Amino acid sequence: MKKLLALFFIGIIQFDIINLAATSSDYVCGQSISAAKFSSSLQDHSARNTATNCSVAECPSSSADDNSCRASSTPCFQYSLNNSSYVCGPAVDCSIFQACDNVTHQCASNTSVCIVDTCCSTRAVCLPLYTLDFCKPGDWSSVGNLIIARYSHTASVVDDGKVLVAGGITSSTSLQSVELFDPLTETWTLINSMNMPRRLHTASTLPDGRILVAGGFHSNTLASTEIYDPLTGNWTRTGDMNFPRYSHEAIVLSNGTVLVVGGTDGVASAHCEMYDPASGNWTVTGDLNNRRYGHTLSLLQNGSVLAVGGYDGSFLNSVELFDPNVEVWTMVQSLNVSRRLHTASLLLNGSVLVVGGRGQSDALSSCELFDIANGTWSLVGSLNNKRYGHTATVLPNGKVMATGGDDYTGNLTKTELYNPSTGNWTIISNSDASRYSHTVSVLRSRKILITGGQLNSSTALSTTLLF
Ligand SMILES: *[C@@H]1O[C@H](CO)[C@@H](O)[C@H](O)[C@H]1NC(C)=O
Ligand SMILES: *[C@@H]1O[C@H](CO)[C@@H](O)[C@H](O)[C@H]1NC(C)=O
Ligand SMILES: *[C@@H]1O[C@H](CO)[C@@H](O)[C@H](O)[C@H]1NC(C)=O
Ligand SMILES: *[C@@H]1O[C@H](CO)[C@@H](O)[C@H](O)[C@H]1NC(C)=O
Ligand SMILES: *[C@@H]1O[C@H](CO)[C@@H](O)[C@H](O)[C@H]1NC(C)=O
Ligand SMILES: *[C@@H]1O[C@H](CO)[C@@H](O)[C@H](O)[C@H]1NC(C)=O
Ligand SMILES: *[C@@H]1O[C@H](CO)[C@@H](O)[C@H](O)[C@H]1NC(C)=O
Ligand SMILES: *[C@@H]1O[C@H](CO)[C@@H](O)[C@H](O)[C@H]1NC(C)=O
Ligand SMILES: *[C@@H]1O[C@H](CO)[C@@H](O)[C@H](O)[C@H]1NC(C)=O
Ligand SMILES: *[C@@H]1O[C@H](CO)[C@@H](O)[C@H](O)[C@H]1NC(C)=O
Ligand SMILES: *[C@@H]1O[C@H](CO)[C@@H](O)[C@H](O)[C@H]1NC(C)=O
Ligand SMILES: *[C@@H]1O[C@H](CO)[C@@H](O)[C@H](O)[C@H]1NC(C)=O
Repeated sequence: MKKLLALFFIGIIQFDIINLAATSSDYVCGQSISAAKFSSSLQDHSARNTATNCSVAECPSSSADDNSCRASSTPCFQYSLNNSSYVCGPAVDCSIFQACDNVTHQCASNTSVCIVDTCCSTRAVCLPLYTLDFCKPGDWSSVGNLIIARYSHTASVVDDGKVLVAGGITSSTSLQSVELFDPLTETWTLINSMNMPRRLHTASTLPDGRILVAGGFHSNTLASTEIYDPLTGNWTRTGDMNFPRYSHEAIVLSNGTVLVVGGTDGVASAHCEMYDPASGNWTVTGDLNNRRYGHTLSLLQNGSVLAVGGYDGSFLNSVELFDPNVEVWTMVQSLNVSRRLHTASLLLNGSVLVVGGRGQSDALSSCELFDIANGTWSLVGSLNNKRYGHTATVLPNGKVMATGGDDYTGNLTKTELYNPSTGNWTIISNSDASRYSHTVSVLRSRKILITGGQLNSSTALSTTLLF
């Protein structure tokens, strides 16, 4: 042990004395390897979560395939063993370790294991077993409850890493209240309320970190919009939209303008408009070809916006693309399956994964992938559980996590993970995360936060879960 620590310190002193002062004792390892204290890193990282006892992060699943150190906020945390197992370890300068035999992956000592993929070296290195914490399966655990149970709210991660939850419904009343989640204490606090109660609204994070909340429903369909400033904690009214709407979608374009698309005011809308954060004005832009709500929007890597499916009185399979240069929507290839209340996730390779949703007669398990190279949709692996009103979140490792949703039985406990390299879904947790119309946020720590939602048509939830 002492030898290893000495090695760490030599590594540090050799390379960066200032860093030693800054990072000393940032790493404290827990239970299984309580003797080891990692105090070093030559990498710039933020894994200094004093709220957790062990900075040696857990992998999200015991499955060898599932190799992301999700709980770590540094990308330098994952080591895969030569036997398809994975461990999480601290970010270190790998040059201070003995190299493995580069062909056999053997270490001289049988108390060391050969670590094949290290972040800071291209060579495989031997690490003593006692310094490693083997991956444990990740799962949902309960954290502090919302003060007010709610669904059809919005959740935004603000610049300081807290999560802002605004509006929604409780007991069939629209909410004006706003709560902030502090990841360090894992608790919620009520903060300044919005100017208007609203549900089924949108929340968009502007380039300067402020949050724009638009439209929604409260007695009437709302055209009003307002902005939360994290620096002052104040909500300020800003320009009204030209069209009141709820169940619309909003997306921040590459230049920081917010594009609001479709929705309903009792009747599905084709209207689109843009918010300029500099002037605070809304400007009408090109209409959709097909009126829709309950659709999805995705910002493609080239700046165009893809609107998929939804509802206009019929379930839609139509898809259209907005070119911001000319502000025109063009129909592109349709989905294989008509759907609303599905999700659309922009994968790391730029393609768009559409998941589940509500179809003509049932919840859907089918999933489709939009290939940006040829503009076509193809069916990929189906969900194990059909669902709509669920969430789908792209994790930092590029996989997509589906949570909750309704399948018309109301017992959708299972969490599934999509692997883009195989095109298949795997159930990664059977823990009870059942709810729909909830939100999911990826925290700075890479943990996943589920907030609120509804259990059935009348019950709003205050529980929040962390994965
Ligand atoms: C840290 O360890 C203490 C004592 O073992 C325990 O009570 C606490 O829950 C742990 N905290 C975390 C975040 O694991
Ligand atoms: C891989 O090797 C480690 C360390 O020797 C061991 O603990 C683990 O059980 C092995 N995993 C498999 C799947 O053999
Ligand atoms: C393994 O190491 C030897 C000696 O350093 C080197 O010559 C050889 O190219 C290495 N092989 C691989 C596959 O890296
Ligand atoms: C490890 O090596 C020591 C010394 O060579 C030997 O006594 C021991 O049995 C070995 N342990 C294993 C698990 O191979
Ligand atoms: C993995 O490494 C161990 C020792 O580090 C070695 O005994 C074993 O043969 C290796 N397995 C593979 C598949 O390379
Ligand atoms: C904004 O917040 C500050 C500090 O909380 C307060 O003093 C100020 O009056 C607020 N401004 C508005 C316009 O509400
Ligand atoms: C914003 O709207 C106001 C009132 O309609 C108008 O006077 C002003 O010129 C607009 N600003 C910009 C930048 O368009
Ligand atoms: C941002 O892009 C939109 C769509 O192309 C355009 O209408 C708007 O003028 C742009 N805003 C700025 C500030 O460049
Ligand atoms: C962006 O990519 C899509 C899909 O490949 C394509 O249809 C569209 O024309 C592109 N937009 C621009 C502005 O190049
Ligand atoms: C488009 O690309 C995808 C994936 O590369 C492929 O499966 C599909 O067959 C292609 N479709 C057409 C019409 O070329
Ligand atoms: C993955 O999904 C495809 C269908 O898209 C299926 O043919 C294949 O068997 C699945 N593979 C696994 C490992 O489940
Ligand atoms: C769903 O849960 C309820 C209550 O927990 C139970 O009565 C019902 O049988 C479950 N339905 C299914 C399909 O599992």
